[in-house]
Amino acid sequence: MKALVTGSTQGIGYAIAKALVKEGFEVTVHCARDMEKAERIRDEIGAASAVVCDLSKMDEVDALHAKTGDVDVLVLNASVQYRNPYDKITDEEFDTQVNVNFKSTFKLIRAYSEKMKENGFGRIITVGSVQQYKPHKDMAIYAATKCAVVSLVNNLAKQLAPFGVTVNNVAPGVIATPRNEAALSDPEYRQKVLDGIPAGYAGEASDMAGTVVLLTGEGGRYITGADIVVDGGMHL
Ligand SMILES: NC(=O)c1ccc[n+]([C@@H]2O[C@H](COP(=O)([O-])OP(=O)(O)OC[C@H]3O[C@@H](n4cnc5c(N)ncnc54)[C@H](OP(=O)(O)O)[C@@H]3O)[C@@H](O)[C@H]2O)c1
Repeated sequence: MKALVTGSTQGIGYAIAKALVKEGFEVTVHCARDMEKAERIRDEIGAASAVVCDLSKMDEVDALHAKTGDVDVLVLNASVQYRNPYDKITDEEFDTQVNVNFKSTFKLIRAYSEKMKENGFGRIITVGSVQQYKPHKDMAIYAATKCAVVSLVNNLAKQLAPFGVTVNNVAPGVIATPRNEAALSDPEYRQKVLDGIPAGYAGEASDMAGTVVLLTGEGGRYITGADIVVDGGMHL
């Protein structure tokens, strides 16, 4: 069985790709531009292949399916996140976040689901955010794209269920990854963040992998249209 994990050269996507390799999937590692890094990670975790595709560029998104071929498991994990007060967000920042986080998600599900339907099997997982529930004031558009993806997941889960294809969203809380390393290294900000997490600590990227393994395995065959929050209780 084949799996593609977008944004899997670091952070949460890396942990998911590594876990899927361990489960026996032939995994394709993906990132935006750095093919050397993608190949290095492919070799490091024992994945099957590596590919680059800038998900903010629709011509590249349209070409990705032909590059990788069909997969049984599609994990749409890559995203772009800008921190900016809503009245400072530029049109370019708006477009990039909508294109990478939402538009490419739709286009890739459309491209890869065709064969899944034909096969009578498929697992599509989007990676959302606790910001679906608790949007950060400086990430209005990022949070909105994550909510838009959940709407898409609900809609498509219903339409694809008769074909044996499940569609679910997994929503991380604060997970220590290269993305938030700089922000969380400020002790004052870190404490403020931790105060909002009932579990009292930030998650590790590997904390996200178990849910994806569940959803892709036999135990997940009857789970579809779910939004599974993995956040130490932060959304509550
Ligand atoms: N970390 C958290 O606390 C947290 C919390 C809530 C939700 N999430 C969500 O979890 C997912 C993973 O987050 P993370 O923290 O692991 O992220 P990360 O460390 O920033 O890694 C992001 C990955 O996505 C790829 N990517 C970024 N822009 C891309 C583009 N334009 N086209 C293609 N690939 C692109 C990156 O590849 P390049 O290096 O080539 O750019 C990288 O492999 C995201 O959807 C994020 O929104 C994370």
